[in-house]
Amino acid sequence: MNALKSFRETLSTAKNILILTGSGISAESGVPTFRGTGGFWRKYQAPSLATPEAFAANPSLVWEFYEYRRTLVSKVHPNKAHEAVAEFQSRLSKEGRNVTVVTQNIDGLHQKAGAKDVVELHGSLYKTRCTKCKTITFNDTIPICPALEGKISPDPNFVSSDIPIEDLPRCNQGNCQALLRPDIIWFGEGLDPEVLNKASQAVETCDACLIIGTSSIVYPAAMFAPQVAKRGVSVAEFNVESTPATRKFKYHFEGPCTITVPEALAP
Ligand SMILES: NC(=O)c1ccc[n+]([C@@H]2O[C@H](COP(=O)([O-])OP(=O)(O)OC[C@H]3O[C@@H](n4cnc5c(N)ncnc54)[C@H](O)[C@@H]3O)[C@@H](O)[C@H]2O)c1
Ligand SMILES: [Zn+2]
Repeated sequence: MNALKSFRETLSTAKNILILTGSGISAESGVPTFRGTGGFWRKYQAPSLATPEAFAANPSLVWEFYEYRRTLVSKVHPNKAHEAVAEFQSRLSKEGRNVTVVTQNIDGLHQKAGAKDVVELHGSLYKTRCTKCKTITFNDTIPICPALEGKISPDPNFVSSDIPIEDLPRCNQGNCQALLRPDIIWFGEGLDPEVLNKASQAVETCDACLIIGTSSIVYPAAMFAPQVAKRGVSVAEFNVESTPATRKFKYHFEGPCTITVPEALAP
């Protein structure tokens, strides 16, 4: 039997399906991934700006980078892979079966496509967290503050505007007024225990798993699908190339996920 048919048979009887996604699922929507050609903004490697150290050293630069990403993502649309995931989840829920979507993405495209209860491991581009009182607030206003207007060019020759800290996004809880940061888990930071708990439950209980568009390099998300495979559960990887984890999985469907994922999840 061919691999696709075999995996579809597994899905047809599974009761708890885990779908893990990474930045590759949004690549064809026009959101650059961190690894590969899209990994630069100005002269910086994107991951080097996604750190608490970068924010402490230059909050203006890091806000310019995130305002660029917020603006970019606000203009793109979910693609056929996001849509197939959302449609699959909704269809199975009507049959009393459960599909948990756990994503490393911060772009909100699963939700835009209609997916429900998405577990956002790494936070969201559209939430802020106060550096002092820790309050988390949804905010999709662009620009997020007047000072960032016109300051987000990705051009390698564009220099940081060094926006004074008072003019960067500030907390409006009572008279807190402290500096806000993106509510995103940066490299070197731990995951929210509640979020991690939700993901772990799905990892421990699922009876089929898809891992879509992730390099399986960034921990702890990288260990989820291998943990599922270790329990003897069928895992299918969807990627344009092999990853360090490919050999651990029963299935590997190579190619753009806007083609492979709808094929696997079609009714
Ligand atoms: N869209 C976003 O929200 C976004 C974008 C960039 C980075 N990030 C963050 O960066 C970290 C990077 O981890 P990651 O593993 O998700 O991303 P990654 O950039 O490390 O890897 C992306 C993976 O997607 C694959 N890929 C690229 N295009 C694809 C396509 N069309 N179809 C299928 N696969 C494709 C690549 O081969 C690669 O393995 C995460 O923590 C994430 O939060 C998020
Ligand atoms: Zn505050």
